[in-house]
Amino acid sequence: MSEHFDVYGGARLEGEVEVVGAKNSVLKLMAAALLAEGTTTITNCPEILDVPLMADVLRSVGCEVDLQGDTVRITTPAELSYRADTPAMGKLRASVCVLGPLVGRLKRAVVALPGGDAIGSRPLDMHQNGLRKLGATTEIAHGCVVAEAEGLHGAQIWLDFPSVGATENILMAAVLAKGTTVIDNAAREPEIVDLCRMLQQMGAQIEGAGTSTLTVHGVDELRPTTHRVVGDRIVGATWGFAAAITRGDVTVRGVDPHHLDLVLEKLRLAGADVTTFDNGFRVVQPDRPKAVDFVTLPYPGFATDLQPFAVALSAISEGTAMITENVYEARFRFIDEMKRLGADARTDGHHAVVRGVERLSSAPVWASDIRAGAGLVLAGLVADGVTEVWDVFHIDRGYPHFVENLNRLGARVERITTSPDRG
Ligand code: UD1
Repeated sequence: MSEHFDVYGGARLEGEVEVVGAKNSVLKLMAAALLAEGTTTITNCPEILDVPLMADVLRSVGCEVDLQGDTVRITTPAELSYRADTPAMGKLRASVCVLGPLVGRLKRAVVALPGGDAIGSRPLDMHQNGLRKLGATTEIAHGCVVAEAEGLHGAQIWLDFPSVGATENILMAAVLAKGTTVIDNAAREPEIVDLCRMLQQMGAQIEGAGTSTLTVHGVDELRPTTHRVVGDRIVGATWGFAAAITRGDVTVRGVDPHHLDLVLEKLRLAGADVTTFDNGFRVVQPDRPKAVDFVTLPYPGFATDLQPFAVALSAISEGTAMITENVYEARFRFIDEMKRLGADARTDGHHAVVRGVERLSSAPVWASDIRAGAGLVLAGLVADGVTEVWDVFHIDRGYPHFVENLNRLGARVERITTSPDRG
């Protein structure tokens, strides 16, 4: 069976949408449950494909995992397997986050190389260098990261780049190391803060969460906890862009608007009226958006995950926008799909120049990753005719109830299932 979305152009999104926990947090929190024997409960989980995949990864090392609606219960046994090489590992990037906890707890791990979005080169050198500093040996062998240590000890670690995944893996190994670890140039994303909070509730001693220096005082053991996942700022921002692109009026609940300060400022510059409240924000776009430049950077910079939406917005804005991609070089592949929809764009290395056009025109397009897929759907909402978006399994990996939410906001998007013989 193959699935695509038919996206009917001419929509104006209006209404309220609720955002649940962040994909890029819940998967790491699930991995953190490996650090403590007993049952850890995680609430506000998104119903997306990656959560059951991560559950399979945890089961493969010996955990029991129970998924009920928005709650995941993980029971971690005293005896864990150090080998995480189930096929589920290859289907998502976050699977590599079991490396740190397994090395931290067992001093040994064999972890299949992760999969995930094809958005450019995604090496693991910083993860491995961090583990080496903590006293482990590590190599890539037979498609797996292999790591082993007699014991882990605290260390001073400087990251070349504030990598989200490397910060998480090193942090989760360091919480059970002997002595103090300092991670400098650490990632500051809200999802890292969320992980630090959960680890702290489990008994870890971490200072500096949300800053670029994380100090971890190792402890002998951690205890299970109950934790609510932070709201998904990327999904929240997607709805903000959807409002701006369709000249709509959308209220987003369930996300801390401070996690989107820069994004909301960009939407204001594009001409939107943006108001914020405790756990959300409202974007009203009265007129055609104005072109705004975007530069992707680690948090608190403009997230690379939001770059496709910046391109989609620029494609229909008045004026010319320059978009600079500093994190994942292959993300501009999305622009080729946007050109099928009539976008006037060209790329040169890290830069894309997008000249806004009045109208996009529908075409069949292919999602290459989660955010590119969602970006194509938003572009389809303002293209003449019906845009077919293919390979929508990418979107299902990151957006819970995407089609239902779009239709509730006034769009017309249909999920079409085709059997292979009907092509
Ligand atoms: C996470 C997010 C992803 C987001 C990205 C950047 C998850 C599951 N995914 O991915 O949605 O786009 O952060 O915000 O949370 N790098 C190295 N060596 C390493 C590690 C990373 O060179 O050892 C490079 C990468 O190639 C990339 C940059 O560092 O250019 C950022 O990667 P990183 O922050 O690690 O991204 P992920 O954690 O994989």
